[in-house]
Amino acid sequence: MLNIVLFGPPGAGKGTQSNILIERHGLVHLSTGDMLRAELASGSDLGKRVKAIMDAGKLVSDEIVIELIDKRLTANPDANGFIFDGFPRTIAQAEALDRLLTSRSLAISCMVRLKVPDEELVNRLVLRGKESGRSDDTETVIRNRISVYSEQTLPVADYYKKQNKLNEILGVGTVEEIASRVSEVLKAYA
Ligand code: AP5
Repeated sequence: MLNIVLFGPPGAGKGTQSNILIERHGLVHLSTGDMLRAELASGSDLGKRVKAIMDAGKLVSDEIVIELIDKRLTANPDANGFIFDGFPRTIAQAEALDRLLTSRSLAISCMVRLKVPDEELVNRLVLRGKESGRSDDTETVIRNRISVYSEQTLPVADYYKKQNKLNEILGVGTVEEIASRVSEVLKAYA
């Protein structure tokens, strides 16, 4: 069973590469960003509570995202494996994920970290903001999301490094080139 944490800053290509991995490995994609945007779109109480936080590019509380992941793990008891995209984003989330997996006799196989220079991230997301209108894809909010990543999320890479599960790859190039790099890393865990 392959359980992958796909890690990287906003715009690194986590969602894009997740879509390829789902096809190739039949994994269940768990993106906390997608789950939260679905709550916003449905107009749920949770969606109303998190809207301002997401629009500002800040992190939603650990409790909320851990509960979302817990529910999805329970809803997919027969999965071939999971791709965690945009989660965990804090050490508390990483520790909670280990607990949730251990209680189901599961474990993270590896983290794949996509490294992309900040200016490339800004260019990609500004472009997407013009095309898709995602409300947090404006330059000011993008730069804030990158700062939040550096300050609050980057330590999560060390958490997995200490467990000998960290793999770093360059996230610049064509989508297919990056997918090949990811596949190369995953060979060791298949
Ligand atoms: P989330 O949805 O997770 O957003 P993000 O981390 O900011 O990531 P993005 O979806 O913007 O980028 P990505 O790395 O997936 O790249 P993508 O493939 O889309 O989170 C949004 C918000 O939700 C957070 O700010 C926070 O408020 C909240 N949240 C979510 N999870 C949370 C958690 N665990 N805890 C607390 N709060 C949480 O690609 C980006 C663009 O680049 C696309 O247009 C794509 O087409 C393009 N692209 C992809 N690959 C390439 C390439 N190789 N070359 C050129 N362009 C490319």
